[in-house]
Amino acid sequence: MKICCIGAGYVGGPTMAMIAKQCPDIGVHVVDLNQPRIDAWNSDELPVYEPGLDEVVKEARGRNLRFSTMVDEGIAEADMIFIAVNTPTKTFGIGAGRAANLEFIEKCARQIARVSHGHKIVVEKSTLPVRTAEAVKRILESAGNGATFDVLSNPEFLAEGTAVKDLLNPDRVLIGGESAKAVDALAQVYGRWIPADRILTTNLWSSELSKLTANAFLAQRVSSINAISALCEATGADVDEVARAIGTDSRIGPKFLKASVGFGGSCFQKDILNLVYLCEHFGLREVAAYWEQVVNMNDYQKRRFAERIVKTMFNTVSDKLIGIWGFAFKKDTNDVRESAAIHVCRDLLRERARLRIYDPRVSADQVREELLGVMTDSNGILNEGDRKLLEKNVTIVKDAYAAAENAHAVAILTEWDEFRTADLSRVQASMQQPAFMFDGRNVINSAQAKAAGLDFHCIGRA
Ligand code: UDX
Ligand code: UDX
Repeated sequence: MKICCIGAGYVGGPTMAMIAKQCPDIGVHVVDLNQPRIDAWNSDELPVYEPGLDEVVKEARGRNLRFSTMVDEGIAEADMIFIAVNTPTKTFGIGAGRAANLEFIEKCARQIARVSHGHKIVVEKSTLPVRTAEAVKRILESAGNGATFDVLSNPEFLAEGTAVKDLLNPDRVLIGGESAKAVDALAQVYGRWIPADRILTTNLWSSELSKLTANAFLAQRVSSINAISALCEATGADVDEVARAIGTDSRIGPKFLKASVGFGGSCFQKDILNLVYLCEHFGLREVAAYWEQVVNMNDYQKRRFAERIVKTMFNTVSDKLIGIWGFAFKKDTNDVRESAAIHVCRDLLRERARLRIYDPRVSADQVREELLGVMTDSNGILNEGDRKLLEKNVTIVKDAYAAAENAHAVAILTEWDEFRTADLSRVQASMQQPAFMFDGRNVINSAQAKAAGLDFHCIGRA
């Protein structure tokens, strides 16, 4: 048995590495158009940071795991082909800002159709709008070179930062498909290390929709607790106490109730907008509005945090130095896609603050690229004022203490463990006075912050 995966990103890379590790007799070939990314997968410096991933890749690479840009060869040789390319939100034309851009999926399907012979199982790993499998099937069937195909939907539920753990021990694996034989072939791959009762099978459309729904529900929990955080700040309640109190209700449960500066990542916003677009397409306006509010609430939370910083610092941050701790969208990942930090930094820059940014895993280039992206308008134009701010007001440093030195404030935007254990007295002593700290992740003990002399503010506490 041979597997090929198109797309060596945050999903394709770790997932295939785990399959290769667990199934030494299956040849796994991960292909991608992006040569530098493939080179990185073949080096000691993997393109994706995930705790434990290095070991998994090292064990399988060179044995039954390979990474290359030979897409045609990879497809031609394989019995089973995973599609794990990205499906970003469309930025142009019909459905811009909402619908998923399926250009890459369609290109993959056409390429598979062109180079395939015999029978192949095509697995949708990317998160897709419901009924995409139909389009994929039609494209494959139009190949006209005698090849035959089964299409399966097998959405990935791993979260970044815990990808290896999630792949090793998933709550469930979901496989949607029409052909029982094809579903079984894929179930057997996962069955090598995952108990059979955790492998769920459904029809294709349920599987596609379940992935969008799972992300929408998770994001909704975060937006719900973030909505309550605003009310806590206004009333003297403490959002972490409220979360603990409601989370002990077994019907609610304790997970995903951590108030924050806002959710980020490549999936939540994209998938909800995709769901909203689908609902609108089917004429379900109220349903669309219901889910869209989860995203609106998140935008509000990010904006509100930046506004609170400005307001607390005597209504001006102009020319003040603010140390930014953390830029990734959550801890234990180098991914910055849709990170709340991008929006908070933009808002502070437009208030003319000077930013000194530190993240243990995110490169200076990634930070600059994201800030450039968020300050550029929809026509691709960066106005002169913003260009100057990016050039003059942004510095990136390699140490949290360096980011705080001489700063008027420190803002924590990612919950990295090292911030939790930072020496707050040392931080405070190196700052301008009064020394403000804004904890957007509630990782700092407020009593300790106050004892260190910081003027401390966090989410959901007056
Ligand atoms: C992405 C989406 O974010 C996620 O929602 C979806 O479920 C799977 O795809 P991720 O792996 O995080 O997940 O994306 P990314 O890291 O951007 O990786 C996609 C890879 O596909 C890139 O390396 C890109 O170069 C590659 N690609 C894209 C191709 O090889 N061919 C293409 O035609 C398009
Ligand atoms: C998510 C889903 O969890 C995963 O199942 C799916 O496959 C992809 O999308 P991911 O985006 O990697 O995974 O991270 P996740 O842990 O879900 O966090 C998303 C965002 O929500 C992060 O910015 C995180 O900081 C934020 N969050 C999460 C909170 O603010 N509070 C919480 O309680 C939980």
